[in-house]
Amino acid sequence: MHPAAKSLVDIARSQDSEVGDGTTTVVILAGEFLRECKPFVEDGVHPQNIIKSFREAARLAIDKVKSLAVSIEGKDAAEKAELLKKCAMTTLSSKLVGGEKEFFAKMCVDAVMSLDQDLLDPRMIGVKKVMGGSMRDSFLVDGVAFKKTFSYAGFEQQPKYFDEPKVLALNLELELKSEKDNAEVRLSDPGKYQEIVDAEWNIIYDKLEKCVASGAQIILSRLAIGDLATQYFADRGVFCAGRVAEEDLIRVTKATGAKVQTTVNDVTPDQLGTCAVFEEKQVGNERFNLFRGCPASKTCTMVLRGGAEQFIEEAARSLNDAIEIVRRAVKNAAIVPGGGAIDMELSRHLREHARGIAGKGQLFINAFAKALEVIPRQLCDNSGFDATDVLNKLRQKHASGDAGSTNFGLDVNSGGIIDTYEAFIWEPSLVKINAIGAACEATCLVLSIDETVRNPRSEGADGQPIHAPGGRGRGRGGRGGRGGRGMRR
Ligand SMILES: Nc1ncnc2c1ncn2[C@@H]1O[C@H](COP(=O)(O)OP(=O)(O)OP(=O)(O)O)[C@@H](O)[C@H]1O
Ligand SMILES: [Mg+2]
Repeated sequence: MHPAAKSLVDIARSQDSEVGDGTTTVVILAGEFLRECKPFVEDGVHPQNIIKSFREAARLAIDKVKSLAVSIEGKDAAEKAELLKKCAMTTLSSKLVGGEKEFFAKMCVDAVMSLDQDLLDPRMIGVKKVMGGSMRDSFLVDGVAFKKTFSYAGFEQQPKYFDEPKVLALNLELELKSEKDNAEVRLSDPGKYQEIVDAEWNIIYDKLEKCVASGAQIILSRLAIGDLATQYFADRGVFCAGRVAEEDLIRVTKATGAKVQTTVNDVTPDQLGTCAVFEEKQVGNERFNLFRGCPASKTCTMVLRGGAEQFIEEAARSLNDAIEIVRRAVKNAAIVPGGGAIDMELSRHLREHARGIAGKGQLFINAFAKALEVIPRQLCDNSGFDATDVLNKLRQKHASGDAGSTNFGLDVNSGGIIDTYEAFIWEPSLVKINAIGAACEATCLVLSIDETVRNPRSEGADGQPIHAPGGRGRGRGGRGGRGGRGMRR
């Protein structure tokens, strides 16, 4: 892969892990910064000069974002949830689920709000995908949900609903295991054979008895629960599920307070978990085990529905962006107007600043300012409007200095300009701060590469190295082409 392209991929990744949204923004910005630098480099300006000015410009821009950011701290819960919903809706509007953004934004906000507000651990939000139904059939469970595991005969006789059940979590096999596969037993007296068979049965019955004696009504195990155990539990009004996926079991334990046991000897009551309601419920073609109203830890599960697998996958990715954004907004509680408004304002601010600089720095900072306009321009292009027209309107508005003019951005519905703050097109300020910082760093990195030496002969059509015929290593590979910028100095 081209090294410059690789660094762009890296910043997108870092944006994704740092903030969770704005990956497109950061790549577009970096691309535009590089495009703006290119004429200078071709004119023989030393890259270090550009780098210095760009870093300065990024710093100024980030300071400006911070000063423009509006805090949503200190509002009451309902109002805050409403504000967070707006942020989630802005994130979702460019996605496949954009048509139902209000519905999903609410779901994301509810999901984040149901977490422990100090930790806000996104791993406590489970996402389950069930094919079939429409998007709107998706729902949020205030607890843990997972697909019914494989079950044996007798399972249907087990109760499927409990109020405040005791939950026992195991990492133990509850299956009658004949040892004949992996052990050799030599008997001199055929009568002893029955004793060995009985011993095997006793071991398993002993385990099952202890499970029931612990008082548990729901028994979950990461390992198999066999047919004998299933029937045994069914006869005693106990629900069981074997081969529960590890992540599900962990969430159940965190949510209900159960502690995973590797043996059933001495299970004390404090090792059992509980929740308000347990039930098994049909969702589409699947059955789900739901644990609602869990006391120990705050967790929730989104059950996503949709007609096609790819669609549900894309919906899950988009919701992940929105969840991250809501989390960031809860933590940082500062937002800026989106739709290109903040970018136009930063651009204006930097141009004004540049005017006060004597020397080449003025050009570079102006170039940086111009590059920031790429965000509203791209939004115009994507929504099918004339970018030049809209950008001129925006520049004029931002320069006017009227009250609130700093909040004007693109109206994707009409192609005009609107106060995006008033229109609730909001983004957490962190998205912009991180995007500008990362894009600037990537640009500086590419600029500071003196030259790139390529050896086309050693590269196959797909960019993979190929071996010279006959295996003769040719050292420098003939006249290796010199790519890169070929700067005049
Ligand atoms: N309703 C809207 N009107 C105007 N602009 C909007 C609207 N909704 C979102 N935007 C803008 O769209 C941009 C975000 O687009 P998008 O979500 O496609 O990219 P991203 O967040 O940079 O990357 P990704 O979501 O792929 O990680 C932001 O600048 C945001 O302000
Ligand atoms: Mg986005």
